[in-house]
Amino acid sequence: MTFPELQDKIVFVTGAHQGIGEAVANTFINEGSIVIEADLAFENKDLVKVTDHLYQIHVDVANEESVQRVATDLHEAGLIPNVLAHVAGISTMDYLVDSKTSDFDKTIAVNTRGTYLIAKNIVNLMLMNNQPGKVIFMASQAGKNGYRAMAAYSASKHAVLGLTKTLAIEVAGKHINVNAVCPGIIETAMKHRERKDGAKIRGLEPDDIEKEDNSQVPLGRTGRPQDVANVVLFLASPLSDYMTGQAINVTGGMTMN
Ligand SMILES: NC(=O)c1ccc[n+]([C@@H]2O[C@H](COP(=O)([O-])OP(=O)(O)OC[C@H]3O[C@@H](n4cnc5c(N)ncnc54)[C@H](O)[C@@H]3O)[C@@H](O)[C@H]2O)c1
Repeated sequence: MTFPELQDKIVFVTGAHQGIGEAVANTFINEGSIVIEADLAFENKDLVKVTDHLYQIHVDVANEESVQRVATDLHEAGLIPNVLAHVAGISTMDYLVDSKTSDFDKTIAVNTRGTYLIAKNIVNLMLMNNQPGKVIFMASQAGKNGYRAMAAYSASKHAVLGLTKTLAIEVAGKHINVNAVCPGIIETAMKHRERKDGAKIRGLEPDDIEKEDNSQVPLGRTGRPQDVANVVLFLASPLSDYMTGQAINVTGGMTMN
């Protein structure tokens, strides 16, 4: 345990089934927090208590009814989050001029609309209960720069930073800090799929992209989900009490702006 202040605090994590979200959820479980994991991959539409410190529920963050239902369940169970870590997201790849409009719409729906719906419903639950706390959104270094064959994703994550900064101003007086994390290249199922898709688009092998990825990182290696979870933990902890509206790079030095 790193932060005794987080023991028994209620932490709501989206995208918790795998990858970065799973690492974030496990990090808070190790802190002794009460963790509510929400993900499209969980089948149960009602909140299920797995242990005293772990709950799970299905959510489709792009679907307003689904997010509202989760907020209602949390309210009815008296589980008002002290910490909201919204990690769920998707990526699609193609050169902008070749890309499908349906892929663009899907990416914006999950990443941007999803962040808006989570903010609107879960942060509102915190506000209605006068619950101070920490909100952490998952952007990307693609939310600060353009990326080859990732126009929809980059646009969706730039928008996440707009939501972060605006919400930060709006709820600052209620003692809710809102920050975003901007990961670089993190080894997850999403990244492995992107290497395959990127290789196909560019006429390369996934291994070529992996070598290219590693060569681009000043700290000499791509990231692990835990590298991101550590920064989420910091943003949920009292050590970040004087930070709000920030977009923190976790990129091994790849992005410095
Ligand atoms: N992996 C990277 O290199 C990287 C870099 C920058 C940012 N990110 C961001 O980090 C977050 C997590 O990425 P990851 O690499 O762990 O991806 P991942 O694909 O391994 O995991 C994503 C999780 O989100 C869930 N999810 C997807 N759509 C959902 C929906 N509509 N509603 C609820 N849950 C949904 C999935 O079921 C999955 O459990 C994403 O927001 C992603 O954009 C990842």
